[in-house]
Amino acid sequence: MAILDKHKFIERNASLLLVLSFLVVSIGGLVQIVPLFYLQNTIETVEGMRPYTPLELEGRQIYIREGCYVCHSQMIRPMRDEVERYGHYSLAAESMYDHPFQWGSKRTGPDLARVGGKYSDDWHVDHLTDPVALVPESVMPKYGFLSETPMEPTYTADLMTAHRWVGVPYTDDQMANAAADFVAQADPNRDSTDLAARYAKVTISNFDGQPQVTEMDALVAYLQVLGTMVDFSTFTPDASR
Ligand code: HEC
Repeated sequence: MAILDKHKFIERNASLLLVLSFLVVSIGGLVQIVPLFYLQNTIETVEGMRPYTPLELEGRQIYIREGCYVCHSQMIRPMRDEVERYGHYSLAAESMYDHPFQWGSKRTGPDLARVGGKYSDDWHVDHLTDPVALVPESVMPKYGFLSETPMEPTYTADLMTAHRWVGVPYTDDQMANAAADFVAQADPNRDSTDLAARYAKVTISNFDGQPQVTEMDALVAYLQVLGTMVDFSTFTPDASR
């Protein structure tokens, strides 16, 4: 009974109860949070992940600017219906170079985490230009103006610098060639050996079919790489952790 009496004392003394509760919650919080700072890695490293190419990175900026995330998520949850519809569930590592991440919380349209390679470049251009022409019941807005907006890699290196600050491992070689790589990815007629050496499995294509690089090229380059970096035919979750 003695213990209960002491507890009664605490419960009747509001300030003391507050101080002691705070102490208990703090200890609990520290026990949960502190180990995260000392773990070798909280994100499993996965083979195949590479930073976005300059063109893909600029396309991602357009995706954010146009608010595509308002209607599209980029995270496939590990549930059967999701996996059957969209493909392998998203891994934390697949967002490791996304600053900020594009997981989204609204699906007016389908999840786009694995849309890369699902359609041809032409399909994307036609669809973005006039969604209803391809999917009659679509409520997606038209983005045809992107094909009429030429793009120069003026600030691409700055964008990559910003990403380097937050931890994306762009090499000095990649930084120095930001503008050249930006143009090379949208022009299959150029010599792109350097680009391919700097970025594994890069897709080189004249995405929108026009001679100059437009915002459409950048956006489609970005869409086409989504979810394609990790090879899920050989991927096995790291069992050692
Ligand atoms: C108002 C909501 C809305 C916005 C904003 C929107 N979409 Fe969509 N999107 C949809 C809907 C609905 C569909 C499904 C019908 C269709 O395919 O058009 C769709 C389909 C798609 C698809 C085909 C996905 C698949 O797997 O078939 C892609 C790719 C896509 N959107 C890209 C984009 C991009 C890129 C943007 C931004 C430039 C964007 N969407 C903005 C609603 C939206």
